[in-house]
Formats: sequence, structure tokens, C-alpha cells
Amino acid sequence: MALTDQVTDVLNKQINAEFYSSYLYLTFADYYEDRGLKGFANWYMIQAKEEMDHALAIRRYLLDNDFTPTMEAIAKPDKTFGSDIEPLEAGLEHEEYVTSLIHHCYEVAHEAHDVRTMKFLDWFVSEQGEEETNARDMTTNMKLFGCDPKGLYDLDREYQARVYTQMTALPL
Ligand SMILES: [Fe+2]
Ligand SMILES: [Fe+2]
Repeated sequence: MALTDQVTDVLNKQINAEFYSSYLYLTFADYYEDRGLKGFANWYMIQAKEEMDHALAIRRYLLDNDFTPTMEAIAKPDKTFGSDIEPLEAGLEHEEYVTSLIHHCYEVAHEAHDVRTMKFLDWFVSEQGEEETNARDMTTNMKLFGCDPKGLYDLDREYQARVYTQMTALPL
């Protein structure tokens, strides 16, 4: 069963949104590198890789369903930050926005009675819940512990420990 034009359109747009997320998180990593917070930089570098995996999983899904996606231009992230908590807050806001995009994709698939795409998007729905939780925890931790140098050092060490593993839940 072929995907509808509406479904391929929102999924193609979602590829671009995931690449933009990757780009955005690279700028967060750049900010923390500049600040000397290599753990925070590591965390967002890995986040950027995960976002690219999300884009590639949607690309793969479209290709496997006989649709060739178009790689559109990626917008320039233009945020500048005045304090160490600002990227974290911007990250939470961005993930909430991406959740709304994923839910919209799901609604379009639902309207098309496209059960296969709904099932495919299930993983993204759950993932967005986890992403929001992580982003919220990071802002909370920063508010609680980031205000003194030792607390900030411990947080940075914690985020340094994050290791990238390529997504296995869906083919890329
Ligand atoms: Fe994502
Ligand atoms: Fe994300």
C-alpha cells in the first residue's frame, strides 16, 4: 500500500526537523566547549548524533516504502547564550516543539488510516517523552547544583560519561 502524499510530505519535513535538531545541538556543544565544560559538550555532541539517526530512520522508512525523500536546506541555528542554563532551557523548549511535530505526523497518518506509519511513529512518540524528561532533568539539575563550582564540576563529569550508541530500534 503506497503512502499518501500528505504522509510523505510530513515525514519529509520531519527529516529536515531532525537534521535541524542535530545542527542546533551542535551549537549547544560549541557553546559548552567554549566555556570549558567538556562533559556538557559531550552530552550535546551525542544528542546531535542521535538526532541525525532519527532523520536517517525516517529517510529509510520512506525509501523502504517506495518514496524518495528530498533533502531540503537546513536552517541556521541563531541562538546566542548568556549563561550555562540557557542552552538547557532552549533544549527543553525545542524538544517540546519537536513532540508537537511528531504528534502532527501521527495525526496525518491516522487520518490516512495508515496503520504502518502510525506503528513506525510509535517509537518517536515514546522517544519524545524520554527526550523531554532528560531535558527537564538537566535544567533542574543545573538549577539545584550548577550554582557552585563543585556542583557544576560533578555535573560536567556525569555528562562526560554519556556514550553514543547507534540507534537499533529502527533500521537506518
Ligand atoms: Fe529527534
Ligand atoms: Fe530530540
